[in-house]
Amino acid sequence: MLYIGVDLGTSSVKLLLMDDKGDIKSVVTKEYPLYFPNPGWSEQKPEDWMENLITGIHELLQGQDASLVEGISFGGQMHGLVVLDKNDKVLRPAILWNDGRTQAECDYLNNVIGREKVSSYTANMALTGFTAPKLLWMKKHEPELFARIEKIMLPKDYLAYCLSGVHCTDVSDASGMLLFDVKNRCWSEEMIEIIGIRKEQMAKVYESYEVVGTLTSGMAETLGLPSSVKIIAGAGDNAAGAVGTGTLENGMCSLSLGTSGTIFIATDEFAVDDKNAMHSFAHANGKYHFLGCMLSAASANKWWMDDIVGTKEYAKEQADITELGENNVFFLPYLMGERTPHNNPLARATFIGMTMDTTRAEMTQAVLEGVTFALRDAMEIARGFGVEIKRVRLNGGGAKSPLWCSMVANIMNVKVDKINSEEGPGYGAAILAAVGCGRFASVEDAAAKLIRVVSTTEQDTETVAKYEKKYQYFKRLYPTMKPLWDLQEGK
Ligand code: XUL
Repeated sequence: MLYIGVDLGTSSVKLLLMDDKGDIKSVVTKEYPLYFPNPGWSEQKPEDWMENLITGIHELLQGQDASLVEGISFGGQMHGLVVLDKNDKVLRPAILWNDGRTQAECDYLNNVIGREKVSSYTANMALTGFTAPKLLWMKKHEPELFARIEKIMLPKDYLAYCLSGVHCTDVSDASGMLLFDVKNRCWSEEMIEIIGIRKEQMAKVYESYEVVGTLTSGMAETLGLPSSVKIIAGAGDNAAGAVGTGTLENGMCSLSLGTSGTIFIATDEFAVDDKNAMHSFAHANGKYHFLGCMLSAASANKWWMDDIVGTKEYAKEQADITELGENNVFFLPYLMGERTPHNNPLARATFIGMTMDTTRAEMTQAVLEGVTFALRDAMEIARGFGVEIKRVRLNGGGAKSPLWCSMVANIMNVKVDKINSEEGPGYGAAILAAVGCGRFASVEDAAAKLIRVVSTTEQDTETVAKYEKKYQYFKRLYPTMKPLWDLQEGK
């Protein structure tokens, strides 16, 4: 049998075809545009996702026996707001996870309703990327559209809806809406009332590995697949990535260097960080996790390479970088503002420390290091509340760079395990599909049978010490720059 894993990302949708032994038969990537209608805003068209999903599945199945496909599941960019009217028409472009327009709404939720109250309902505080503040923003700025909302959904759930006709979501992705009672894995009636929406507008909630339905006959025909193909709820991309890297046991940690940079810590029990510095979400295996998220990770390198340096040859640009821990150029990666740990949509990217002899390679190095230092900021929060992190599993596009893996090992002082698949969320989604179809007894059973560590990048004591000094310097840059960014915004 075959399973399709869909990783609905911010720059592209990646599709992966896995057989029942866990071998990847083919992978297809389809890119679509990202729109920044105002500085700090970020939108995408759900119709673009769907169009590329359809053409992508056709490409994925070329030369394969489509009649063997048994299930499809998803890992999706989290928090995005997709709204449909009564005719199932998309009402406006999706407002994405890295959109910073909702500071006023977050201030209302955290300061007027109160952070502690919001956290007692949802296990999290209001942050600009989360979904509920976006609904408040629509209510204020687009009242006519807001009044026409019939269905509220997350990005990957739009795909599941188009494929199956079922308005569904899963516990891990729902956790990032700020409308979900994470502990009890159900919608929070209180938050639904505070935001001024109705429960009927919300999707039915499933565990990530549960079947929500089958392909509609129309979709089966469009895709050339049997209409018996099951649609499995799937997970937010971080939880799906954690499934794909086997980050399931209590205390295990994975890092993702994708458009966002995340640190993911699996926990057996529900727990909340009392400062809400890390997100507390449901996991795709029926348990829970902590998550810290920085908004520009591999995307900062992509911006530097594609838009500024003007090259697609990332590996070639990194080939001259050999001296780790010696760079005097620093980069603050806040191209879209920052979430963990600063929660400041007004933060901006900055290079600092150049001299007349600074080279392009040093600036490239600074970008990769800046992202890694910023991700360490999030890791320090987790370490601060007692989680011991000695090794991590890495996924996301950035994990393909051996140089970046080495920076992670030495800047964070951890061992970096590479596993047999590099396709974190897509592989995790295919595993969830296989579990949903009964091929494996549980997510853990699938991970134990399919995922293994193939190599480990170890840190080097001298480089760790050098980077420690650099990190102490890096930590002083954000508070130094913050008043200047505030000034720029007329604050
Ligand atoms: C997690 C987050 C990002 C997106 C990226 O909280 O906002 O990792 O899921 O796709």
